[in-house]
Amino acid sequence: MQTILIVKIRTKILLISSILVVLSVGLTSYFTFQYTEETIAHSAIHKMTTMLQEKKNQVDTLHARATEDLVYTLKNPLFEEYFDLPETKSGDVYKDGVLQLTQRQRELKGKLEHAIYNFQEKFQVDETCLIDTSGQEHARLVLTKTAPDEDLSSEESSAPFFSKSFQMEKHQVHVQYPYVSPDTNRWVFAYASPVVLGNGQKPAIFHFEMPMSIFQDLIKVSDGRMYVIDPKGLLVADSEYQFKTDSLSLVPENYFPPVFTVSDSDEFKNLVSEMRIKENGVGTYRDAGELRYVVYEKLPTFDWILVYEMPHSLILSGNETLDHLRTTIVVVGMVMIIAAFIAIFFISAKLSSPIRALIRACLEQNIHDPKPIEISVSDEIKDITNAINSMVAKISDNNKSLEMKNQEILLRNTALESEKAKTEALNAKLQDNMVKLEEAQYELEQQRDHLRDEVRQKTEELLKAERLSAIGQLAARIAHDLRNPLTVVQNTSRLLQTKFAKRLDDKDQENLARLDRAVYRMAHQLEDVLDCVRIPQLKKKDCSLSAILKDVMGRIDVPPNVTINIPCNDSVVFCDPEKMEIVFVNLLINAIQAIEDRAGTIDVEIHDDPVNNNFAIIKVIDSGFGIPQDGLQKIFEPLFTTKQSGTGLGLSSCKNIIEHHGGTIIVSSVVGKGTTFTLRIPKFSEYHRVPKDLLFTS
Ligand SMILES: Nc1ncnc2c1ncn2[C@@H]1O[C@H](COP(=O)(O)OP(=O)(O)OP(=O)(O)O)[C@@H](O)[C@H]1O
Ligand SMILES: [Mg+2]
Repeated sequence: MQTILIVKIRTKILLISSILVVLSVGLTSYFTFQYTEETIAHSAIHKMTTMLQEKKNQVDTLHARATEDLVYTLKNPLFEEYFDLPETKSGDVYKDGVLQLTQRQRELKGKLEHAIYNFQEKFQVDETCLIDTSGQEHARLVLTKTAPDEDLSSEESSAPFFSKSFQMEKHQVHVQYPYVSPDTNRWVFAYASPVVLGNGQKPAIFHFEMPMSIFQDLIKVSDGRMYVIDPKGLLVADSEYQFKTDSLSLVPENYFPPVFTVSDSDEFKNLVSEMRIKENGVGTYRDAGELRYVVYEKLPTFDWILVYEMPHSLILSGNETLDHLRTTIVVVGMVMIIAAFIAIFFISAKLSSPIRALIRACLEQNIHDPKPIEISVSDEIKDITNAINSMVAKISDNNKSLEMKNQEILLRNTALESEKAKTEALNAKLQDNMVKLEEAQYELEQQRDHLRDEVRQKTEELLKAERLSAIGQLAARIAHDLRNPLTVVQNTSRLLQTKFAKRLDDKDQENLARLDRAVYRMAHQLEDVLDCVRIPQLKKKDCSLSAILKDVMGRIDVPPNVTINIPCNDSVVFCDPEKMEIVFVNLLINAIQAIEDRAGTIDVEIHDDPVNNNFAIIKVIDSGFGIPQDGLQKIFEPLFTTKQSGTGLGLSSCKNIIEHHGGTIIVSSVVGKGTTFTLRIPKFSEYHRVPKDLLFTS
């Protein structure tokens, strides 16, 4: 691990140092090249400027010579002499295609042509001619050859230089912008000046055409390109391009075909704008991806600009300084890099050795019992060693205090664990208790509801009982008060029956019997009232139910539409016959009232209980209108009646009597078909168990 670490450190040092060395060598080379290139460019521009100046001087000289020679030639008195002749002044020199000259004119014309010839030969111009104000040529030499009379044109007034030349003063020269000469078919530029007579008249102009090739030859350069442009940036002459006249036609004055532009780039157009303003200067523009250096100077003659241009690559190519510099940089750079590598390698090895010792010492250090590291090395590593020593000491101290804290935390954890266990047990108990509490609460709520219902029911019952008790007391008092007078009526009726038995006819006897039955019924109704509100005092004995029924039949009025069927069988029951009579009377009267005026039957059945022979079952079945479902619940309640004259005490007293005999009474009914009352009475005294609530009531 230690070795890997050292290797890593050394690799990093080597890598970083190499990058730095390569970067510094690269940057130095780059800036050196830049500087050298700039220096070379400056020197080239200087040379170009010198060359441009030289060429400009030559152009100026050419122009000055052309002008001077033209003026000098015009100073020849022959010109004035020729045009001062009266026959020349008359203007009729050319008639019917033949030049009409006098002897004197022809003499002077010959001399003039000779003088012009000398001038032309000396100057190597293309064409020279002498033109009068009407545009008539008087003499013309094409390439030093004198034109014959018939070739002299009379239409030179349309020549571009014609009118401008006449505007010149004596010895003043008009220089005409280049054009293609129709005579030589060459690209030329012209010089012209007027012939001025003594009286100031200008009868003619003397003019010559200089070929542009002279200009072209003049601006030829060995390196780069020299050219002349007009103010619009169009080429007038170019050292790299020989204008061919066959590609041209006669073009308007001051106008060159646009093919002769130097560059279409915006940079060049800007440069031309600058050239127009300044007399001379230096500039650059970029075309076809290459930088071009330019020096320029104005040519005042035509307002033209003489430009010398050198591409950047041409300036640098074959430059010995640059080649030498390149070789030097490569060699020095390589040497520097190798030297730097070796130096860095040894320095990093030297630097890493104490670090290795320090790492070894750190790794061998016992963290629980740290010893100060001792290494005899440089100051910087010593500082690091001291810092590590102090850090190790602090870590050791911290470790101890951490261990103590750890112990404390462990103890606290144990205590907390036991607390947690206790809390969890308590929680579990609490949960159980909560569940039980909830159950108990639920049960209590149930009991509370039940008790509330019971209290309400009992309260209702109590209120009812209280009300009944009050009614009962009142009824008992009335019944008691009525019983004695009724007994008197009954006894009196029986006395009358007995006393006047023989004297009474059947009708009277029947009336008395009815009176007796009515009194009996009234007495029984009073008994009903009393039976409802008091505990019946039963006088029980074994009685034949059939016999009781027969007695009852004798005591009730049975309407003719009702047939009552009494059973043939019998059952002897231990009961109070008077109370049982009341029961049967009530049941049969109710049945008769339910049949109403329709024809109906009432069947009375007596038999032993098939389940328990100790009980007798008596059924009263009628074919009356029946009892609706809601009425069935209430018919045994005291004071419940559906009849206008009913008391609602009949069935209530029946129930009271039967239950005090230890029996039961139930009802079943179908509305519209009839009703059946079923009585179940114990036949023997030992089965007379009166229900508890009845005992409680008593
Ligand atoms: N056999 C029956 N058929 C149809 N309804 C009956 C029959 N017996 C009793 N009821 C109904 O039960 C009610 C209560 O009868 P209950 O004998 O107690 O009083 P009541 O007959 O109305 O009056 P009271 O008996 O004092 O003349 C009757 O009003 C009647 O509506
Ligand atoms: Mg009744």
